[in-house]
Amino acid sequence: MYRRRCHESVEYTADISCICVIHNPITNPIASPPPTHSRPRTIGDVAHQDEVVRTLEKALETANMPHMLFYGPPGTGKTTCALAICRQLFGPELFKTRVLELNASDERGISVVRNKIKGFASTAVGAPAVGYPSPPYKILILDEADSMTVDAQSALRRTMETHSKVTRFFILCNYVSRIIEPIASRCAKFRFKPLGGDVMHERLSYIASKEGITLAPGAAEACSSNSGGDLRKAITLLQSATRLFGRTEISGADITAVAGAVEQSDVDKIISACRRDKYDEAMCVTDSVLKHGFPALQLISQLIESIVENSEISDLQKSAVALRCAEADKALVDGADESLQLAAVVSVTCVALAAN
Ligand SMILES: Nc1ncnc2c1ncn2[C@@H]1O[C@H](COP(=O)(O)OP(=O)(O)O)[C@@H](O)[C@H]1O
Ligand SMILES: [Mg+2]
Repeated sequence: MYRRRCHESVEYTADISCICVIHNPITNPIASPPPTHSRPRTIGDVAHQDEVVRTLEKALETANMPHMLFYGPPGTGKTTCALAICRQLFGPELFKTRVLELNASDERGISVVRNKIKGFASTAVGAPAVGYPSPPYKILILDEADSMTVDAQSALRRTMETHSKVTRFFILCNYVSRIIEPIASRCAKFRFKPLGGDVMHERLSYIASKEGITLAPGAAEACSSNSGGDLRKAITLLQSATRLFGRTEISGADITAVAGAVEQSDVDKIISACRRDKYDEAMCVTDSVLKHGFPALQLISQLIESIVENSEISDLQKSAVALRCAEADKALVDGADESLQLAAVVSVTCVALAAN
């Protein structure tokens, strides 16, 4: 459910940025490319991934890197860490010749592994850079490696074996289980944790202050609650809201609007009506949400999130609602009617929550 929500809101924000570029090209306070300028430049600046940062800083001291496998959810700092290590090892000049970064937008089938990657991995290294550790190897960053086919990964494994003296591989992925075992076992593994609300809040405030944006109370919370631990998504929401509304003070409601999320007050109204066993009242709010064009799945996912977080609702009640939400999720994906599914979810929620 979560992955689909991500996808929906990404499309939504993309639409909005198109509109903004046409209507308001000058007043955009944040430059257009995604949030790369807010990317930490050194390993030490990477937030929340303490164990990873500590281990990598140790490795940096000796400049002796093994092959590495970074895995974890999107927007948690994997690419940031890989680029920061390379920058700290080689400096900006040598970086250009010693580091090759291939991500999902590059063709990475078996022929690329056999030609481009092998070509890069097999060439000898040149002179070191002054003032940087410049160890005598190159680094190949394979971002989003879990989208590579098994055949391409198998070919990569041979290249890793043959050229490990002059090249280190940094394999980055979301799902470690999609990396073939012979590659995974050759790498030091680092797990990246989803970022909690506090860390996100801190990073967003820092970025906002650098960009001259004021975050009204609730704005940072709205960014983090609509991004599920993905800091990249949270920053993109902030960026889209700033562009769309063309002002420097951003409120929680602005963020909710660009995220394509239902107003939290509406979700709260539904829960409150269900707890009082007022099915009609809850359906009234639900219908109006649907009429405003929100997808039923969005409302269902916010509803279950709010119910799970509510400490006044018992585990048994939560499980009853969660089960029905999961069924509705599946039914909606299979093409069921939105209002009927929502009615079913609301009625089960009423029965579960009213039985106190
Ligand atoms: N742990 C973190 N500390 C600081 N900034 C982060 C962190 N994780 C993500 N970011 C921010 O989010 C953006 C995307 O992070 P990135 O490293 O590309 O994520 P991914 O794990 O998907 O590779 C970065 O530009 C950076 O600003
Ligand atoms: Mg990445």
